Amino acid sequence: MIVTLMGQKGGVGKSTTAICLAMAAFERGYSTLLVDADPQGTLRTWGEVAAEQGRKAPTVVAMGAAMHRPGQLDSVARNYAWTFIDCPPRHGEVQRSALMMADLAILPCGPSASDVWALSSSLELVQSARQVRDSLEACIVISRKQPRTSLGKDLRAVLEKAGVPVLSSELFYRVAYQEALAAGAGVTGSGRRRDPAAQEVRALFEEVEKLVYGKKESGCFPAQALASA
Ligand SMILES: Nc1ncnc2c1ncn2[C@@H]1O[C@H](COP(=O)(O)OP(=O)(O)OP(=O)(O)O)[C@@H](O)[C@H]1O
Ligand SMILES: [Mg+2]
Repeated sequence: MIVTLMGQKGGVGKSTTAICLAMAAFERGYSTLLVDADPQGTLRTWGEVAAEQGRKAPTVVAMGAAMHRPGQLDSVARNYAWTFIDCPPRHGEVQRSALMMADLAILPCGPSASDVWALSSSLELVQSARQVRDSLEACIVISRKQPRTSLGKDLRAVLEKAGVPVLSSELFYRVAYQEALAAGAGVTGSGRRRDPAAQEVRALFEEVEKLVYGKKESGCFPAQALASA
């Protein structure tokens, strides 16, 4: 399964969500690949910190706007149960390339007006990818949720008008995510079973798992070979 974290807006939680989901998959025993498609190299640096800490973690590789070409991501991802691609903001070419490979696009959206405004241009990328891959799934996940702010309270209702499903799992604004990123870790490791961040990431992974496998079992899941598109 290939999942891309994408969106035109910077700082909405794409890299954090990619890392936390990948660690959740990895800790369940799935072979897991992280694709750093962002020149900022957040995942590569995170992977280096994880290695320095001696932490077992998903393999991290760097790819760019050619990842959909034959012999690129297809030949690597086939060895993994789960692949999570972290896209850069604004680089439409890289996001388009990821959308040619992904089974599911997840668009994190935070509780600021600018996050919500940027969604429409992100969804345009998804819609144009769907013109060649009508079975590409896409969904929004609420990230960095701050329930006490006025937009935070109304966010779900606003996002439900966007035309793609809004996942019921939500990632709240928590220091645990910032600490995990800095420590080359995820938030779901053993000993963290009861942490609120661990619980919400596990719930998110299970929802993503149901979404992609449910679709595959129902027989309407796409062939992934769109490398020539
Ligand atoms: N749920 C969260 N709670 C608290 N802080 C968060 C959360 N998610 C992300 N952050 C923090 O917000 C900042 C931006 O997150 P992240 O790098 O994941 O966003 P991004 O969308 O990948 O950014 P970019 O577009 O620059 O690649 C980071 O400092 C990260 O630690
Ligand atoms: Mg990022």
